[in-house]
Amino acid sequence: MKRALTGIKPTGQVHLGNLLGAIRPALGLQQTFDSFYFIADYHALTSVEDAAALRQATRETTATWLALGLDPERTVLFKQSAVPEVCELAWILGCLIPMGMLDRGHAVKAARDGGFDPNVGTMYYPVLMAADILLYDSTIVPVGRDQKQHVEMARDMAIKANHRYGEGTLVVPDVSIQEEVAVVPGLDGRKMSKSYGNQIPLWAPEKQLRKLIMRIETDSLGVEDPKDPDTSNIYNLYKLFATPEQTANLRERYLAPGMGYGTAKQELFEAVNAQLAGPRESYEEWMAHPSRLDEVLAAGAERARKAANQTLTRIRTRVGLT
Ligand code: ADP
Ligand code: TRP
Repeated sequence: MKRALTGIKPTGQVHLGNLLGAIRPALGLQQTFDSFYFIADYHALTSVEDAAALRQATRETTATWLALGLDPERTVLFKQSAVPEVCELAWILGCLIPMGMLDRGHAVKAARDGGFDPNVGTMYYPVLMAADILLYDSTIVPVGRDQKQHVEMARDMAIKANHRYGEGTLVVPDVSIQEEVAVVPGLDGRKMSKSYGNQIPLWAPEKQLRKLIMRIETDSLGVEDPKDPDTSNIYNLYKLFATPEQTANLRERYLAPGMGYGTAKQELFEAVNAQLAGPRESYEEWMAHPSRLDEVLAAGAERARKAANQTLTRIRTRVGLT
């Protein structure tokens, strides 16, 4: 069976962009792919400095996957750092590529544009991510559009390894991006992201969720002005949560006089909340039982490690380490 793999960094609260862009598409692949999903805690170290915060976010991200329907019997759910072999593969991959490839990485560019000297981890980030993907012989990697470049770098590294050490050394992966949710907008209309502080956390309590949705930025058109749905953040988020009929109905009301943004926001809140209310209870249940989370992660780590070691044995032989 072909393998799907993706990771989420435990760097803060999971948000609607993560849900729609990565988690839901990944969960949709559970039936047809052998799925490996993980909490990218090594990657989080490039930005999280507080150990307690990292532990807490790791727990939250694990509970999020489970609350949203990850089936731990079928899917291997694990913590990246539970399989430290990934660092060995990252080292091997790093020896295949020129420095210039890392200079073009978007995380490094963003740090430099912001006037920071990126840490070495940030520089090496795409190599570790390639190792995540290649260590498990993954064939498909579901992510949001911002991760496309990283998956392409992983492809390049696999192709280079196969060229140097012979076909079949590494599996060349494909990226999978769902176009309708490739870039979920945040409160200010830019890509929803923890780095912009414009996110709607998945597990915000109902009251806070409503408050946040009411803060979505709009233009200043009044109730009697017809409005353009396609440039409206409210509408663009609504269509990702509502049925096609509900979406068509809201669209009509945007185009005609008589509807204010407040009404659209209220309907958006109801649509989002309707989908999250059930999983929210399940999330709270998981969070109240950390030892159950640990058990799921321990079982996942064992399975992941087995798969990782098979690949690593092959690679160590090919490159001449054994
Ligand atoms: P953030 O940008 O908030 O730090 P992450 O980098 O942890 O989010 O993203 C985890 C996953 O969620 C990745 O696959 C990423 O592509 C996806 N993702 C994040 N934000 C969005 C968004 N606004 N729209 C679509 N997908 C997203
Ligand atoms: N870099 C990804 C992000 O920020 C997280 C990640 C780490 C990942 N390793 C991965 C995603 C491997 C897919 C495959 O969202």
